[in-house]
Amino acid sequence: MRLALFLSATAMLAAPAFAQRTASPESRATKTEAAMTDAERTILTQGILAVPLFPGMPPLPAEAIPGAGYVAGIPRLNVPSLRESDASLGVAYVMGLRKDGATALPSGMAMGSTWNPAILRAGGAMIGSEAKAKGFNVLLAGGMNLIREPRNGRTFEYLGEDPLHSGILGGAAIAGIQSNGIISTIKHLAFNNQETARGILDVRIGEAPARESDLLAFQIGIERGQPGSVMCSYNQLNGAHACDNDWLLNKVLKRDWGYKGFVMSDWGAVPRLEAALHGLDQQSGAQLDPKVFFDKPLADAAANDPAYKARLADMNRRILYAIYASGADKPAAKAAIDFKADGDVAEAIAKEGIVLLRNCGGALPLAASAKKITVIGGYADTGVLSGGGSSQVHGERGPAATVPLGGDGPFASFTSQQYHRSSPLAALKARAPTAIFKFRDGRYVTDAVQAAKDADVVIIFATQWMSEGMDVPDLHLPGGQDALIEAVSIVNPNTIVVLETGGPVVMPWLEKTAAVVEAWYPGARGGAAIASVLYGDTNPSGHLPVTFPASVDQLPSPTLPGSITTEPNPMGKPPGVSLSLDYDVDGSDVGYRWYARTGAKPLFPFGFGLSYTSFEHGGLKVTAAGKVVTASFTVGNIGNRPGADVPQLYLVSVNGQKKMRLAAFDKVALAAGASRKVSVSVDPRLIADWKDGGWSIAGGAYGFALGASAEALGPVQTVRIAARKWGPQ
Ligand code: BGC
Repeated sequence: MRLALFLSATAMLAAPAFAQRTASPESRATKTEAAMTDAERTILTQGILAVPLFPGMPPLPAEAIPGAGYVAGIPRLNVPSLRESDASLGVAYVMGLRKDGATALPSGMAMGSTWNPAILRAGGAMIGSEAKAKGFNVLLAGGMNLIREPRNGRTFEYLGEDPLHSGILGGAAIAGIQSNGIISTIKHLAFNNQETARGILDVRIGEAPARESDLLAFQIGIERGQPGSVMCSYNQLNGAHACDNDWLLNKVLKRDWGYKGFVMSDWGAVPRLEAALHGLDQQSGAQLDPKVFFDKPLADAAANDPAYKARLADMNRRILYAIYASGADKPAAKAAIDFKADGDVAEAIAKEGIVLLRNCGGALPLAASAKKITVIGGYADTGVLSGGGSSQVHGERGPAATVPLGGDGPFASFTSQQYHRSSPLAALKARAPTAIFKFRDGRYVTDAVQAAKDADVVIIFATQWMSEGMDVPDLHLPGGQDALIEAVSIVNPNTIVVLETGGPVVMPWLEKTAAVVEAWYPGARGGAAIASVLYGDTNPSGHLPVTFPASVDQLPSPTLPGSITTEPNPMGKPPGVSLSLDYDVDGSDVGYRWYARTGAKPLFPFGFGLSYTSFEHGGLKVTAAGKVVTASFTVGNIGNRPGADVPQLYLVSVNGQKKMRLAAFDKVALAAGASRKVSVSVDPRLIADWKDGGWSIAGGAYGFALGASAEALGPVQTVRIAARKWGPQ
């Protein structure tokens, strides 16, 4: 009894933060910060890289888990250490150091193609639970950069090209992750839209186009997901590093948006100590920076300069706020992972994210009568492709195949293609046990053509591998795959192409094929998901979250910026080179808005996706009552199988001037022959412009149309909307 009393009294003395669990996260953060000693105040402000990347690095602290990062805790105050793992697609495997396996979600493009926030939330909840089970309490997820540049090597990590779409879906994924009582980031703020020269790039963009595009995606994502942390990016924005950018971090994020969490740097993105005054709260992977600024230099500055002193207190309060608000301080024992259940989540998302791009004469779904089936290429006998870099996930037992692409040094693992253990060929065989399958690896056109000639159907798997740290030089399928598809579809017109690409590709062979399916990087159970769509067990409902250009000549910059002056380099810091990028060319007209402005006809428009059934939209009625703009319409399934549609509401004109913006969308599942009335409300920021420090609706006649894509628009409904202005929220 006496012992018990003693223990609890000691625990109370040692654990003020625990004792105040019922208080708000803000007041708990304030109290804990006030209890810190000066020496403790620079513990949470800096983290180390938790991988032995370079020779001579000190060993990791015992409680650190190999992963992206580690920030020591303050046991005296019951402040936990922060154990950080990448990323948005699952718990990353960090250069093969951990062999504990995780469930890979399909890529960001696949998730973006679902247009379904509920399923993204489920995906986030799943990967967050795996992170927690492995002992991590921070998941470096929430990839939110818009696809301004489809050659961006990280396209596969992001969700799309539209701020509303990315913000809603990304916010849902973040909320799912944090539902496990851990912190998620949203990243990379902002305008890190290409990898080439990412560490030296200075993005130039005006305030209005910035607020109306990429920043709006972050704003919506933060509102919906409430991430504990924002990761600032490698590049500069209008002359100041994103992690040392007073305007971006202090004004936009913290003042205008009222963000209460903390800003962590990307790994190696901090140029100097002053970043603390400009809004950076935590220096991550600090060994990668020129100096550990947020340790002694910060403590010294705080001892001498009241501005640093005040900031240091604020930095700690923000980090503590995120810990308390998320529940990341609650101790959790490592747990076993139910890979079967988690794989089911990944498979459901993959099925919903696959986009049917072309289907001539009912080539798909595959007929049960197809007996001789030739499958070619893409390692379809082995697994499905995944994207490289810090977000790379390894499943249980590691990848099915690893194809090294050369390179050496610490980042060599970034340059190897990895295939998850989910063979599409095996899944097709399981679905059609009496069919006779032939597989050809696709290295030789002559051999593939020979095997294709007498087949009832040919399925070519074509891949485009992408990775962090390097962009693709153009949008062609690499390694002669265009020629392979062309030659095979000439000898066998019943050729179906399944794409496993990081992002958009061009398709010079398109008209010769019977069908094209975009499966992206479909994750842990990608093979099963592809087979399910090909055989019609799943009716495809994915819609493109990016425009597929007909050629790079249609892009705002036909040549990839920086590709001529810099060499590929994962840290993106070739010495002595600087590069500035003019994003005012397209401004807020990213993706489909750019095509609407230029009149160029893409290969496939944003929002496009076919189904095995057909849908019709009707009765669009847009009303503006006070500040609320609502649209209602009917969606009908007029085919003969159940399916899901993605009706998209676009703003198409303001006072007779052409304007193109996705204003709202929904995902509607309908039985064959069924119809439903749908109503959506329009986020006012999508019909406003950024002007004089706030949002502004000009007032007048606003034209809206319902679309099956950004190109297939129905009749325009015009509604009068009153002029109004409001603040930055
Ligand atoms: C990436 C981040 C990642 C970090 C830690 C950086 O190279 O840009 O997305 O979270 O590394 O691995």
